[in-house]
Amino acid sequence: MPPTRNGAITSLAPPKIGGRAKDRDESSSEALGTVPDHGTKTPDVAVLGCGSWGKNLVRNFHELGALRVVCDTSERGRLAAQANAPGCTILSDPEAVFASPVPSIVIATPAETHYSLACHALESGKDVFVEKPLALTYPEGLKLSNLARSSGRILMVGHVLEYHPGILRLRELVAEGELGRIQYIYSNRLSLGTIRREENILWSFAPHDIAVILRLVGQMPFEVVACGGAYVSPNTADVTVTNLLFDNGVRAHIFVSWLHPFKEQRLVVVGSRKMASFDDISKKLIIYDQHVEWRTGHPIPVKNAGAEIRFPSDEPLRRECLAFLQSVRTRRQPLTDGRSAVAVLKVLGAAQRSLITNGQGVSLPMAAHA
Ligand SMILES: NC(=O)c1ccc[n+]([C@@H]2O[C@H](COP(=O)([O-])OP(=O)(O)OC[C@H]3O[C@@H](n4cnc5c(N)ncnc54)[C@H](O)[C@@H]3O)[C@@H](O)[C@H]2O)c1
Repeated sequence: MPPTRNGAITSLAPPKIGGRAKDRDESSSEALGTVPDHGTKTPDVAVLGCGSWGKNLVRNFHELGALRVVCDTSERGRLAAQANAPGCTILSDPEAVFASPVPSIVIATPAETHYSLACHALESGKDVFVEKPLALTYPEGLKLSNLARSSGRILMVGHVLEYHPGILRLRELVAEGELGRIQYIYSNRLSLGTIRREENILWSFAPHDIAVILRLVGQMPFEVVACGGAYVSPNTADVTVTNLLFDNGVRAHIFVSWLHPFKEQRLVVVGSRKMASFDDISKKLIIYDQHVEWRTGHPIPVKNAGAEIRFPSDEPLRRECLAFLQSVRTRRQPLTDGRSAVAVLKVLGAAQRSLITNGQGVSLPMAAHA
């Protein structure tokens, strides 16, 4: 069951909803530009929303030579578009973009508008890149995913961490068995940052962490437990801790807050052989050759210094934009396609339900495990 729409259940209400209404690219190298292209022309792109995040997308698609149109309903957004994308057409009415011949639309508007705008774009025959979260309910996300599939359109969600070279390197190490069997994962995404009122911290920050954890574990959790607190605005959680329990014994927690004294973005993976820490602030991936051994019936920690693992320093958002352009050209769904976005929404929905019951576990049906 998706979160209720009126936000009235408890003090940790779900996000507010506004507005109306085998060709998947699994491998990181494919997502990054090594599959054969079916065309050479850079696809034309329009970006909807040129706010604090959208302007980064505008800048990247402009630098990649793909940007033709930017549309923002506010003058501020249109001014930002002018500054970031000189020479592009700047519009104020999204309808004009849907009616235009530009074949690909990037949606970087507030989350509560994603579903209706993405729906409209897909129905207008466009390929679509939607910033996270894909939608504010699981059923709406599923509708978008199904619509893209049935109409043969590309649908991508902006889970940018999945394109981060540090995370891709970590995934490779896990796949190669460097850490042994994954036992525990946690992710901290903390700052005194942009405090949103349309969605709570869980829906604003945690999609990235959930996406990466699902990818690392390779399955859906069977149970989700979330607790949190609302301090800035009634009904909107500012801090949440979400626990994910997986059938294969892996446990994970995600701690997100926009009410925190310092910025931290850290993912830790504890394996049976080694442990890894990825710090997205210092841009460091460290592997610790540490584990616990049993000796004469006693668990003994084996400690060693960490070794830094190098990874390319290019901007994850640029890689994400390239992945979208490549999907449009090749007609292959990107790594962060509709299906993976819907899996993230399913976990977010379960976490939201647990949050409003102050931490009661929410089971995900077996069908969700597929
Ligand atoms: N991937 C990331 O790491 C990341 C980081 C920050 C934000 N985001 C996501 O990006 C999206 C935008 O966030 P933001 O911080 O830029 O928000 P913002 O409020 O700063 O900007 C949104 C812009 O969209 C415009 N807008 C609103 N409705 C519109 C419509 N119907 N058509 C055209 N323009 C419209 C607004 O005028 C505004 O300029 C959100 O979904 C957010 O979750 C992603």
